[in-house]
Amino acid sequence: SALGAAAAVAQDYPTQPVTIVVPFAAGGPTDTVTRLVAAAMSDELGQQVVVQNVGGAGGTLGAGQVAAANADGYTLLLHHIGMSTAPALYASLPFDPMTDFAPIGLVTEVPMTVVARKDFEPATLEDLVAYIKENGENITYANAGIGAASQLCGLLIMDALDTKMTEVPYQGTGPAMTDLLGGQIDMMCDQTTNTTSQIQAGEIKAYAVTTPERIAVLPDLPTLAEGGLDNFNLAIWHGLYAPAGTDPAILERLTGALQVALANESVGNSFAELGTYPVPADQATPEALAQTLEGQIALWKELIAAAGVSAQ
Ligand code: MLT
Repeated sequence: SALGAAAAVAQDYPTQPVTIVVPFAAGGPTDTVTRLVAAAMSDELGQQVVVQNVGGAGGTLGAGQVAAANADGYTLLLHHIGMSTAPALYASLPFDPMTDFAPIGLVTEVPMTVVARKDFEPATLEDLVAYIKENGENITYANAGIGAASQLCGLLIMDALDTKMTEVPYQGTGPAMTDLLGGQIDMMCDQTTNTTSQIQAGEIKAYAVTTPERIAVLPDLPTLAEGGLDNFNLAIWHGLYAPAGTDPAILERLTGALQVALANESVGNSFAELGTYPVPADQATPEALAQTLEGQIALWKELIAAAGVSAQ
């Protein structure tokens, strides 16, 4: 029977390499997190887990591709908070985050850092705040397009300081970091998974973290709240998704593999060095991801509107 055949397919899964689409350029924060998780999932699934970078349109291009892919368990998406901000930022999206995907589990939550090219004038967070207020649009601010975490952080900073900077979009903050290191761009706000080693090596300037508390890998960095940006609180949650309609037995296998990958000691150590941590097993579940996604869509709809930004 067809039902029996489908059950057999799900039971044998995976029989070929699995692709995880990262909706940003290679070498950036989402790519880094995904490659660590993919390698550990590959060990558990007994098949290669390949990362494919589909950058563009702030992550919505890659997400749209996975929404439209075959729901056979061989094309997945690892995306972050952008899944929940895109509906507030785009008047029309080629996918519905809530209904076009089958959630597999939460993955991690990553603090952000406010950074600048090495010779950028402001020395401290206090100087930076004054400098942004004074120079506004003369400052170039890199982001990964509308819907990116870097764009969201910039939007919140500009709203808090009641000013605008000149936003320069990239396919991901990996390539943006290259330009920051080269001095072609002034500033960005990017995840610790992409900035920690450059900050520690003194190759870029760092002013603040976006979380309510300072972080262990960069203990000297003040929080934005310490710099007077009251209640500033931004951490970038990530989730793993399959297209909607994927066989429940395949989803269960993927959730199990994700949980094993996140419990892997070397994955945990790598995450810790990058300023983050893998979520515990009870968060690496479809239910936890669905609940987070739903709550975050509602929250960002409100906060983005409150910041005076309308969908385009
Ligand atoms: C990336 O992987 O390039 C970033 O996550 C982009 C961003 O959202 O800022």
